[in-house]
Amino acid sequence: MKIGIDKMAFATTSEYIDLAELAKVRGVDPNKYLIGIGQSEQAVLPPTQDIVTLGAAAADKLLNERDRERIATVIVATESGIDNSKASAIYIKRLLNLDDYVRTVEVKEACYSATAAIQFARGQVALEPEKAVLVIAADVARYGLKTAGEVTQGAGAVAMLITAEPRILAIERTSVAYSQDVMDFWRPLYATEAMVDGKYSTNVYTDFFKHTLSRYEKLTDRKLDDFAAIAFHLPFTKMGKKALEAVLDERDDQTAWRLRKALLASQNYSRRVGNLYTGSLYLGLMSLLQNDPDLKAGERIGLFSYGSGAEGEFYSGILQPGYQEQLSNVAGDLSERQLISIAAYEQQFNDQLGMNKADVEYDVSADPARFVLAGQKNHQRQYVDKQ
Ligand code: HMG
Repeated sequence: MKIGIDKMAFATTSEYIDLAELAKVRGVDPNKYLIGIGQSEQAVLPPTQDIVTLGAAAADKLLNERDRERIATVIVATESGIDNSKASAIYIKRLLNLDDYVRTVEVKEACYSATAAIQFARGQVALEPEKAVLVIAADVARYGLKTAGEVTQGAGAVAMLITAEPRILAIERTSVAYSQDVMDFWRPLYATEAMVDGKYSTNVYTDFFKHTLSRYEKLTDRKLDDFAAIAFHLPFTKMGKKALEAVLDERDDQTAWRLRKALLASQNYSRRVGNLYTGSLYLGLMSLLQNDPDLKAGERIGLFSYGSGAEGEFYSGILQPGYQEQLSNVAGDLSERQLISIAAYEQQFNDQLGMNKADVEYDVSADPARFVLAGQKNHQRQYVDKQ
């Protein structure tokens, strides 16, 4: 039985900044951000949005009545949790009006955990093939104003339905997970911004990619030539290029040409949104599937998932006929966003910290999103469906 990704949808914030403009304000050559890092725009999170509202917005785009009836579990993968106890999946399940007979949990391991959620979902679908699992990868990447990481911030969510006989990607049996206790990036509970050993983190990422890929090759007898494309976790788009070039090792043949072209297609959306942490690999996959016109059903896609701390996984899947029809319109959503000034972004960045009081009220009228965070009453978050 084939099991894998049946549908995918993406949601991000309604406002963004231009990173060439940010570079000017920060006194940096814009080409450092545009070429050196490979990012051109960045999602800006208003205080009325968080992982719950973004996750619900992404999931709402993909569910029809049949899906709603067969979802057995909702798993939210995030490292931007809003509560140490209650799973964000419960709020999302309520906003989506899903049945109460649904299992709802949250999982964590930096940017990697959406891949763990997909693997767990495969297990559930193998046991109950008539059921579906809704996996939502939702995060807010936040490093701080005027830090080296600022250009790699972002926010958004990718929702995926994992089913039998999937219509996007049938996941293959062999996958290689690899973990080590490494301090390359972490977010202590008392900190409002991520802590990171930036250059070191890029080296650990590349090492984990090489380790997992080479073991996958040994276990399967497959080579790079067997992949139509590889999708990478993209904390910033240049990272995917660094990792791919590390294994291409100056190759200049058909395979190298194909994988480089596919990488460009996969970077398109992340370049305009920024790091989504758990969702980045899967936004990269959506970007690949919507922007590489040479891909064909039946071809093999490799996926490299990485989460600091650190854990990596390399796995693969076979593209299914008609996969293009099961993806939300990401380019359309991005073109509807509003460009804001760097001063307005800095204001929103600081306003995100307003939830540390028992009672907070936000004006949600300026946020065009359907699902919004209206504030907090008696320490309880107030989510509203505006429809
Ligand atoms: P930096 O200090 O800006 O680095 O930090 P830099 O000065 O080396 O510049 C970056 C690149 O721009 C270099 O290219 C420069 O040459 C180039 P590279 O050598 O890397 O190929 N450059 C220029 N290019 C064109 N024109 C110019 C110019 N000037 C310079 N004028 C860093 C960069 C990524 C380290 C920083 O932004 C950071 O710390 N980001 C956050 C950490 C991160 O994203 N790490 C990625 C791997 S870890 C990961 O993926 C996990 C993560 O998603 C979290 C999780 O798992 O939860 C982060």
